[in-house]
Amino acid sequence: MKKDFLSIRDLTTYEFGLLLDRTAEMKKHPRRFRRALEHKILAMIFQKPSLRTRMTFEAGMLQLGGEAIYLAPSDIQMGSREGAYDIGKNLERWVDGIMLRTFGHGIAVALAESTKIPVINALTDLSHPCQGMADFFTLREHKGSLANLKLAYVGDGNNVCHSLMLAAARGGTKMAVGTPAGYEPAPAMVKAAREDGRDTGFELTVTNDAEQAVSGADAVYTDVWASMGQETEKEKRALIFAPFQVNARLMALAKKDAVFMHCLPAHRGEEVTDEVIDSPNSIVYDQAENRLHVQKVILALLMGKKDKT
Ligand code: CP
Ligand code: NVA
Repeated sequence: MKKDFLSIRDLTTYEFGLLLDRTAEMKKHPRRFRRALEHKILAMIFQKPSLRTRMTFEAGMLQLGGEAIYLAPSDIQMGSREGAYDIGKNLERWVDGIMLRTFGHGIAVALAESTKIPVINALTDLSHPCQGMADFFTLREHKGSLANLKLAYVGDGNNVCHSLMLAAARGGTKMAVGTPAGYEPAPAMVKAAREDGRDTGFELTVTNDAEQAVSGADAVYTDVWASMGQETEKEKRALIFAPFQVNARLMALAKKDAVFMHCLPAHRGEEVTDEVIDSPNSIVYDQAENRLHVQKVILALLMGKKDKT
């Protein structure tokens, strides 16, 4: 693997499959890996709030025999008190890896370039690759394989949508994205996914029709309409995105056994109804659990000795 994990594009199609296989193994036999990161320390920089990401990285490091240090936005004040370059140059003298949740993706790239230790993207405005990996691991657990599946993503063409497209490209999964006009995924990410998925069986449809996106899908995925950092647009977006709510009527257009997915946190009653997120077909808490397992493998591969992973 490359030094850093900033995007699902950092993995070849082969490495993508291998990471999912290793995750299955580590999930099944966690005790075998309890010393994989002994004496290793992860610095966790958060410029945005988190429940799942903080818990799963911190618990993951502890389960692998290492430790994690949480750096809150007010602690290091990245960008105002000190820039990414100097932060990277300092941290590499003390710790073995850095996890970063920030705004502009360029900040994560600058941090990774500044330092010789691995940097893991734990969400930027552009992408959320750990989420995408956990989601495709979860999808594979429930459906048996990733090929010949249709994943429908409904809502905002945001960071989570981007990482799902790149994962679908690697996994050979067909994907339909349904967004309001003007909220489609970034053209550069669509192009990247199409390039990566050229030989895998991946197909991508981008539409402004939620019903078309969901029709015949094996999985229906949504995310919040206003992401962290877009709070001022919340009311405007609520009106624009209303026809894209995932409710029982929309789910009825997917296959009978279609699963419902969400990265969480969910705004119940907005992008998804209680009826759908609490239904037996909802796998949202499996996705949350699998963040732990997939990230443990990423941490062990990037920070551990090769023979212990
Ligand atoms: N899905 C996710 O990343 O959750 P948090 O924002 O709580 O970390
Ligand atoms: N798109 C959301 C995902 C949260 C996990 C955000 O960026 O806020």
